[in-house]
Amino acid sequence: MDKFRISGGRPLKGRVSISGAKNSALPCMAAAVLTPETVILHNLPYVRDIITQRRLLEDIGATVLTPELRTHKITAAHIELFEAPYELVKTMRASVLALGPLLARFGKAKVSLPGGCAIGTRPIDLHLAGFEKLGAEVKLEAGNVVARAPRDGRLRGGEIHFEKITVTGTENLMMAATLAWGRTTLYNAAREPEITDLAELLNKMGARIRGAGTSTIQVDGVEALGGAEHTIIPDRIEAGTFIIAAAMTAGELEIKDCRPEHSAALIAKLREAGVELQELNPTTLHVGGAMKLTASDVTTQPHPDFPTDMQAQYMALMTQAQGRSQIVETVFENRFMHTSELQRMGARIHIDGSRATVDGVTRLTGAPVIASDLRASASLVLAGLVAEGETVVDRVYHIDRGYEKIEAKLRAVGADIERVRESVTAPPGATAEADAAVV
Ligand code: EPU
Repeated sequence: MDKFRISGGRPLKGRVSISGAKNSALPCMAAAVLTPETVILHNLPYVRDIITQRRLLEDIGATVLTPELRTHKITAAHIELFEAPYELVKTMRASVLALGPLLARFGKAKVSLPGGCAIGTRPIDLHLAGFEKLGAEVKLEAGNVVARAPRDGRLRGGEIHFEKITVTGTENLMMAATLAWGRTTLYNAAREPEITDLAELLNKMGARIRGAGTSTIQVDGVEALGGAEHTIIPDRIEAGTFIIAAAMTAGELEIKDCRPEHSAALIAKLREAGVELQELNPTTLHVGGAMKLTASDVTTQPHPDFPTDMQAQYMALMTQAQGRSQIVETVFENRFMHTSELQRMGARIHIDGSRATVDGVTRLTGAPVIASDLRASASLVLAGLVAEGETVVDRVYHIDRGYEKIEAKLRAVGADIERVRESVTAPPGATAEADAAVV
């Protein structure tokens, strides 16, 4: 298993370009299953989860061509398998996004039920209740979700009131509704930019979706969808991670190819905490200047509020801010796994249920630490960048799932970080394959 070795204490300086959003690319790739025609996606990030999603598409019979590194041409003309097997679902929960498109186009789908994972129990009950509202019969058989459309093979439009806001649930139902009879209305829908991006692609394919980006989405079903070409939006979480990297190291970074309007709550919070941020143009941010970081409380919430996917990185930042901050996690019940590792580096953090109290400023010291999930890994890398001495982050396959070449990007702006490749046999239960999936 690869590790990162980081020598802290160097301010980051230079320019960094943001890759495409993994969490938008994954549903957009799944959407290609809705049509026999070719869907061309540009700006896909080169990360492990995209490779896994590609494998899923190929396993079920789709053809995926890669004319360029970040472009996929996906043709789902000859789908032979209507399921996402356990081997894939256990490594990547987003495989459940195959359910909506398969059910909508072929009237049947089987997806292994994902178990709990490193950040919480993460059920998919809301997805399943939504499919039932669209007329599907949903059964659990031998650990698999088996869903069938009514006898004529086509879902019926319906009204779906999500009890809780769910991102992939909204995406799954929005995709399923595109080919249903009549109108579907999704209430209390997720409003993430990734939802809007997916709706944009679906509409290019011929779907009739209105209201994406608001909490009420209306989908008028159509007979069939066609091919389309689409460019994935930039990854707002990668951009946020680099902003924090610049702030923590008292560096100066120009962050290119991003969409600041997708990160309004994060940017406002970081400014409040003393981070100097300027929008140079609609796709470029500048971080740097005389920064005096001060503690500022935050509560994670669905978009447009502060994202849970930035909570771990923000916690690393708060260890370097003057004063006491409270960080409340409301989206997932178990997303403080990074805390004990940050504590090993000297951070003063106290956890009480869903609330973390961080006391800063702490001089962090390098230590061997273990990454537990994607965003937790990012927070450990950030801590390593300011720690005195050497930090070794183990199990970086978590970070490879969602950050494109993070060590190369960091090194290019002055960080002392290297990947140590290890081919030793992993201890039982500690391989990328067997580890809890977190997407
Ligand atoms: N939930 C249910 N039942 C459901 C669905 C969700 O109880 O049927 C609960 C979850 O357990 C959680 C909350 O609702 O407590 C929100 O979960 P959501 O469904 O929104 O999460 P997700 O769709 O599984 C996506 C991202 C995550 C991100 C969350 C929240 C993708 C592929 N994944 O997950 O990304 O944290 O939304 O914004 O889009 C990451 O990139 O590191 C990551 C974990």
